[in-house]
Amino acid sequence: MIVLGIETSCDETAAALVAADRRILAQRVASQHELHGPMGGVVPELAARAHVERLAPMIAAVLDESGLDLAQVDAVAATAGPGLVGALMVGVVTGQALAWAAGRPFLAINHLEAHALSPRLACPDLSFPYLLLLVSGGHCQLLAVQGPGAYRRLATTIDDAAGEAFDKVAILLGLGFPGGPAIERAARSGDPAAVPLPRPLLGAAEPHFSFAGLKTAVRRTLEAGAHRTADVAAAFQEAVADCLADRTVRALDRLPEARALVAAGGVAANSAIRARLAGLAAARGLPFVAPPAWLCTDNAAMVAWAACERMAAGLAPEAPTARPRWPLDPLAEPVRGAGVKA
Ligand code: KG4
Ligand code: ZN
Repeated sequence: MIVLGIETSCDETAAALVAADRRILAQRVASQHELHGPMGGVVPELAARAHVERLAPMIAAVLDESGLDLAQVDAVAATAGPGLVGALMVGVVTGQALAWAAGRPFLAINHLEAHALSPRLACPDLSFPYLLLLVSGGHCQLLAVQGPGAYRRLATTIDDAAGEAFDKVAILLGLGFPGGPAIERAARSGDPAAVPLPRPLLGAAEPHFSFAGLKTAVRRTLEAGAHRTADVAAAFQEAVADCLADRTVRALDRLPEARALVAAGGVAANSAIRARLAGLAAARGLPFVAPPAWLCTDNAAMVAWAACERMAAGLAPEAPTARPRWPLDPLAEPVRGAGVKA
């Protein structure tokens, strides 16, 4: 069973061929950072146009690299949401057309489910249920992952996502876009104790997140006087790690059946954050699992893999429509203060 995966939900164009036995036959990602960087954030129209230009040649390239032709692909899967609607439509329409031409099924995949199951592509031993910290540019959630299609949201952010905070603070520090990798690099030579920063919601009973106040505190700190960029980066990264760790412990208390602590999404590529989560899992006698960095940030291997998991579980395909919002746990209560990112 070989699946062609397509990812175009935001500013990464990606295609991959993944086998149900976890072999990644070919995978490519083209980021659009050079396009959106000067704008300080992703411009939806530019993103959609870039996907149109890049996706078809990229699919041809992964097929070529794997030595397969379309007739040897058993299913086609594309991210159908959540994300930028114009960007999503490029992937969905392309995927549907290829599936139709090849006479194969098409699977519309939830981008969050692709992140949520990606650790099982990298780690065959990881079994359900697990506690997932899903931390990306658009999302910051704690989820009980019971199996493909079965998610219970334990917490979300009441304002910004963690990756969004990294990106905004990087702009304040003049480090460019995307901010996460730039802040991680700068933080290596910084002293986190040199700049005091708050830890929003630390110790709160509900395991929700908040990062807007932290970003504002960085801005005020910079306005108040000169600081070494490396010190501010290190202090910010440590504050985020403290908040993520504290909220994760709170959620673990509510999920005693969890067999592992798992992190996924772009921010889970951060090695300081991974080390902190690994430490807290070890303290509770739980394995810590996070995919390699390339599989944390947006890619199409995770989309193909989610399709493999859904087919193996016998789940019915989702409707092939692009949807800007698509919560993993439709029953989760809206959280006061949470904006469009819930
Ligand atoms: O999962 P992803 O590629 O796209 C979304 O679905 O949002 O996550 C992108 C986010 C960006 O905000 C980026 O700054 C952040 O992940 N990120 C990082 C690192 N690498 C990417 N944040 C912290 N440290 C990193 N090394
Ligand atoms: Zn993502």
